[in-house]
Amino acid sequence: MDTPDLVALESEAMAALDAAQDEASLQTWRVAFLGRKGRLTAVLRSLKELSDAERREVGAASNQLKGRLESGFEARLRALQRSQAALLASERIDVTLPARPLPGGTLHPITLARRQVERVFRDMGFDVVEGPDVEWDHYNFDRLRIPADHPARDMWDTIWVDAVDEERDRRALLRTHTSPMQIRYMDEHQPPIRVIVPGTCYRYEATDATHEWMLTQVEGLVIDEGISFAHLKGTLESFVRRLFGEELETRFRCDYFPFVEPGAELAVRWHDRWLELLGCGMVHPEIIEAQGWDPERYTGFAFGMGVERLAMLQWGINDIRYFYQNDLRFLSQFRGS
Ligand code: PHE
Repeated sequence: MDTPDLVALESEAMAALDAAQDEASLQTWRVAFLGRKGRLTAVLRSLKELSDAERREVGAASNQLKGRLESGFEARLRALQRSQAALLASERIDVTLPARPLPGGTLHPITLARRQVERVFRDMGFDVVEGPDVEWDHYNFDRLRIPADHPARDMWDTIWVDAVDEERDRRALLRTHTSPMQIRYMDEHQPPIRVIVPGTCYRYEATDATHEWMLTQVEGLVIDEGISFAHLKGTLESFVRRLFGEELETRFRCDYFPFVEPGAELAVRWHDRWLELLGCGMVHPEIIEAQGWDPERYTGFAFGMGVERLAMLQWGINDIRYFYQNDLRFLSQFRGS
């Protein structure tokens, strides 16, 4: 019988050992080379067929090879275990670690104030609607009895928009108040009307602690048979008392707005000062008539309040500019829904 080629066997075994990437293939390798029916075992079993001299020589070489294969196996096993341990360690997740905080947003203080106003008027049976920020002068001025040459236009510093409706002779602007929605609403609805209109208004003016070029208003309009100034007073007084408390003192004084007659301003007593909160008045009979309604039968009142001013009063804020500076140190102080 030929003497077995131990050199070829060893290099084949070592190559297979290097190729084993996990413990299972390592065990397969051990069965294949060192197991009871393995390749090296077969060599050892065949020794008896050799001559004495060959048996001694090949036997010694086979035993040495067996030792090298066994220690090769051990070394490979330890190496695999080490790299697995390293992998586990590197992928370790500490599930007891508290999660990183996800900062939740809060509502803007003007949104909060506006919703408060809406809730009070909804409770009194008002609908809530919105209108366009970009408006025709027709609704913002003309239909509110403020014709082009009327000095009352100067009451609002207007931001004009580059859009003209030549056919109807209308020019576009950023609405200076929410009052144009009085007209739009009356065009679409019949009395009885009871509605408020929250929305943003814009005025071309320099800013200071009490003036912003953008402001939020809530307009109110009520039209029905037999509505009087007493209804206006009662409605607005119960509104401000719900916001600021039953003890609040209120004051109505004459004021002028071309679309109401009489017109008034409502002020509240706040820290020993009278603070103007809103403009209001009885809807001008010419406006009722222009809608095709009999002003002897239908009367109504309207009001318009600044939401920033309400919020400043309520939270003791002394500069209106804080609202739109996007400073989280300011904004995150307000909580609510
Ligand atoms: N639109 C007026 C303003 O912006 C307020 C107002 C509304 C006055 C309704 C009377 C009636 O100042």
